[in-house]
Amino acid sequence: MEQIQIIDSKNHVGETVKIGAWIANKRSSGKIAFLQLRDGTAYFQGIVVKSEVPEEVFQLAKSLTQETSVWIIGEIREDSRSKFGYEIGVTGIEVIGESHEYPITPKEHGTDFLMDHRHLWLRSSRQHAIMQIRNEIIRATYEFFNNNNFVKIDPPILTASTAEGTTDLFETNYFDQKAYLSQSGQLYMEAAALAFGKVFSFGPTFRAEKSKTRRHLIEFWMIEPEMAFMHQEESLEVQEQYVAFLVQSVLDNCDHALDVLERDREVLKKYTQLPFPRISYDEAVELLKKNGFDDIEWGDDFGSPHETFIANSFDRPVFILNYPKAIKAFYMKPHPTRDDVVICADMIAPEGYGEIIGGSERAIDHDYLLEQIRNHNLDEKEYSWYLDLRRYGSVPHSGFGLGLERTVTWLAGIEHVREASPFPRLLNRIYP
Ligand code: 4AD
Ligand code: MG
Repeated sequence: MEQIQIIDSKNHVGETVKIGAWIANKRSSGKIAFLQLRDGTAYFQGIVVKSEVPEEVFQLAKSLTQETSVWIIGEIREDSRSKFGYEIGVTGIEVIGESHEYPITPKEHGTDFLMDHRHLWLRSSRQHAIMQIRNEIIRATYEFFNNNNFVKIDPPILTASTAEGTTDLFETNYFDQKAYLSQSGQLYMEAAALAFGKVFSFGPTFRAEKSKTRRHLIEFWMIEPEMAFMHQEESLEVQEQYVAFLVQSVLDNCDHALDVLERDREVLKKYTQLPFPRISYDEAVELLKKNGFDDIEWGDDFGSPHETFIANSFDRPVFILNYPKAIKAFYMKPHPTRDDVVICADMIAPEGYGEIIGGSERAIDHDYLLEQIRNHNLDEKEYSWYLDLRRYGSVPHSGFGLGLERTVTWLAGIEHVREASPFPRLLNRIYP
């Protein structure tokens, strides 16, 4: 008898197989027990008919408690009534690990309770669906960048220099020196782009932001492409093609997850249409002012109500171009004719999900960058290697960072970014 996973059912119809599973739920009458099972790959039904199995098997089926782990033996059958399409006609059950008083029951629980039990909450079908979307975005990311001749490069996590300012840093000891957990791999990816042409990274990043919003994590994963010989305009094209590819991949490969999450496919389909609209920061400020936002002045950064209003003015993601220099990072390329803005863009997701990409063309003039490093009170000697990139064959280059969890939250259509991470690190939460 072959041991299989239920996801592979179509190759085993009519065969008797063995599946390792957990009891998600159960109903029974005098003659029949319906086991709701999950084996990690899917949720499925096991049917135990009293008249067809030894009495002790039927009694065992009736006594199984939630999250008990079992070997299930039975025949794989097509089941046209269920969306999954297959069920198992159970002939034998072996208990592996008992489970008593499982804390998460089918009734409603509060968020704090669920977060305290995140290690168990992950087993529920909604969390399963979200993680499948996350997995698909990761898979599609590698596919997209491989198809386009990017090389995957892994920047360090422990760093002495910082890319995104000094206020949100996690500091640690590096023997007798200070080090920080990476906020962004960008500076290293610039070095990599000058070595390999087109590169991307995918790794964890850390921000000690005192933000408690539905968009902020303390630890999140970022995809950071960096491209040599590329100006901002072409980088925007890569960005929109990449995001449209992610949306299409989720539509193509996450059917079941989209059903569980009740995500409207027609809405998602609109996000595959290129190009995405572009408006300047100046125009965005005008748009907001015209629509009653008295709290915004040229020079301010946008808050989430502003981003949501701008996003709602379009039917797909929108780029906001060229923000004020004073509110952006030190490395961005100055505008050729204005000294108050830099060559950058944020991509704002529709439906109020906020910024999913931040990117820019990079400053390539050595003396300009050195001055910027000094103006930002950064430790000059830690950036000597970075300035080397401008000393030895500097070229125009551009890049961007896409936040994985924000993208998952948006495509899954869920409320809060905490559910897009298997074990989210939040302000005031590092357990479990
Ligand atoms: O806009 P950010 O800060 O850009 C950078 O870090 C650049 N160095 C990227 C680059 O050009 N290589 O962050 C990029 C993205 C944001 O658009 C957002 O999606 C995500 O990272 N992000 C967060 N996601 C969750 N929680 C947070 N606290 C986040 N901060 C940024
Ligand atoms: Mg940003």
